[in-house]
Amino acid sequence: MKININNIQFSYNGTTVLKDINCKINNGDFIAVVGPNGSGKSTLIKCINGILKPQIGTVYIADKDIKQTHLRDLSKTIAYVPQNSNGQAPVSVFDTVLLGRKPYINWKPSSVDIKITTDIINHLQLDDIFMKDINKLSGGQQQTVYIARALAQQPEILLLDEPTANLDLKHIIEIMDTLKNLCNKGFTVVIALHDINLALRYASSIIMLKEGKIFAHGGKDIITEENLEKLYDIKVKVIRNNDFHHVIPLGKLYREDKTKNNELYKTTIG
Ligand SMILES: Nc1ncnc2c1ncn2[C@@H]1O[C@H](COP(=O)(O)OP(=O)(O)OP(=O)(O)O)[C@@H](O)[C@H]1O
Ligand SMILES: [Mg+2]
Repeated sequence: MKININNIQFSYNGTTVLKDINCKINNGDFIAVVGPNGSGKSTLIKCINGILKPQIGTVYIADKDIKQTHLRDLSKTIAYVPQNSNGQAPVSVFDTVLLGRKPYINWKPSSVDIKITTDIINHLQLDDIFMKDINKLSGGQQQTVYIARALAQQPEILLLDEPTANLDLKHIIEIMDTLKNLCNKGFTVVIALHDINLALRYASSIIMLKEGKIFAHGGKDIITEENLEKLYDIKVKVIRNNDFHHVIPLGKLYREDKTKNNELYKTTIG
């Protein structure tokens, strides 16, 4: 489903943290939002799903202003996996995933709701722990449960905030492959990521946020040493081998007086 972010600005208590954000996202896009801590990734994701309301500008989902859309309808369209889900009620894994069916349930879950929940639990290999209290799971297991709950919503748009932060290598690849498969079927995925190499591997396009503004938006070609150094203030090496790109952080970036030795950057390495 299409997302049109039209000139949004968002402030927390008068402090502007997102400004002049314009972006069109199409069906089947896999968008990675990257940028330093505090650059506004989580705030942008919360503006797209309507949790936060921009003071200026509008978010349109399939050409409809989300402010005009009923919450229940929005929940059938957009699922959101937050960055932190601490302090949850003592609920089982199964019931947590079943909660994703809430927008479809009238007074009790149907056999279809139960089947969808069970299938997702099996697909994400949560069947061994499905009766456990989610508060008694590891961080990575909890994260997988919240992703499962989002998938149970059968949304057309999935918004995920750092979903791989607590996962081991196997689960990172499994979750990212699942998301990529959904995009191939026409779902739209927007994911805040710190791992640039995962963004390079999976995303169809990348949004770089710096101090609340879009610093660059495009395909793999925007992942250049120059852009990354400006974005993160760190020296990096980008290795390009045909279609394979890989970013290696090298070290701290020292800005030198340009006039002294005619070098803009002097670094600890290289
Ligand atoms: N509830 C809040 N109230 C006030 N300021 C906030 C709130 N949430 C975030 N901020 C501020 O807004 C800015 C953007 O925060 P945001 O959480 O969107 O950044 P982020 O890019 O997701 O960072 P991270 O990579 O650390 O998750 C930061 O300066 C942050 O301190
Ligand atoms: Mg964040």
